[in-house]
Amino acid sequence: MTDQIVSIAKQAGEIMKSAVKPGVMEKSGHANFCTETDEKIQAFLIEKLKEILPEAEFLGEEDGQDVFTSKMKSGYCFVLDPIDGTSNFIYSYRPSVISIGLLKDGKPYIGIVYDPYDDMVFSAERGKGAYLNGERMMSADTPLSDSLVVFGTAPYYTELQDETFEIAKKILPMCVDLRRSGTAAWDMCCVAMGRCNMYFELKIQLWDYAAAALIAEEAGCIVTDTAGRPLSYTGATSAVCRSRGVRELPDCFV
Ligand code: IPD
Ligand code: CA
Ligand code: CA
Repeated sequence: MTDQIVSIAKQAGEIMKSAVKPGVMEKSGHANFCTETDEKIQAFLIEKLKEILPEAEFLGEEDGQDVFTSKMKSGYCFVLDPIDGTSNFIYSYRPSVISIGLLKDGKPYIGIVYDPYDDMVFSAERGKGAYLNGERMMSADTPLSDSLVVFGTAPYYTELQDETFEIAKKILPMCVDLRRSGTAAWDMCCVAMGRCNMYFELKIQLWDYAAAALIAEEAGCIVTDTAGRPLSYTGATSAVCRSRGVRELPDCFV
């Protein structure tokens, strides 16, 4: 099934790459945009994924199906972010990725994150390891002091800005430098492939992490909320994704 989902993600990537001018529509809240392409990709994903798993439920960021219901806790549920990195997409900044998570009985089962611009497929199946373009990948075993850290600004929750930057300020002297990419799924995949060793963000949604957190865990990362608890896989949460090299949760989170 993973191969079939990858093939669908790649087709969706063509839609993303061929979009000429994104027709921007505003959603609720600060800088929370949705483009016609987000909606087009989500509709495409639902149509194609239904063909391979007709019994699955769907939770997607766009188009009103964004509430996690009790029905989604049993059996299969696809969790979709058609474009993670919508602001990047609007401003032609990079990266933007397609994120497809599949839950089975409420637990992460398959995760696919696809960056169509660099043709990078991140994939994982629970218990079977994480892969980049079919090659097994592992997170880095270097300490925080020798690595980059990425963080998300939780842009739609302005009340978290001060706390976000307080934490960032404390982490900066502990690591080589900080980065902010604009996509949470990509950030976790970067920790998974060893480009950086930690990602944090104070509030992300299930569709931001359903695929990437599994990929990271399968690459040996530890993914928790800021209190060190496992992610809920039912909705919004804070998140810290650490590589193998970052054995302890830095105490600035607790
Ligand atoms: C956002 C991106 C961003 C993160 C936000 C997410 P979107 O998703 O992942 O990096 O900081 O928390 O909501 O809106 O581009 O799909
Ligand atoms: Ca997102
Ligand atoms: Ca999105």
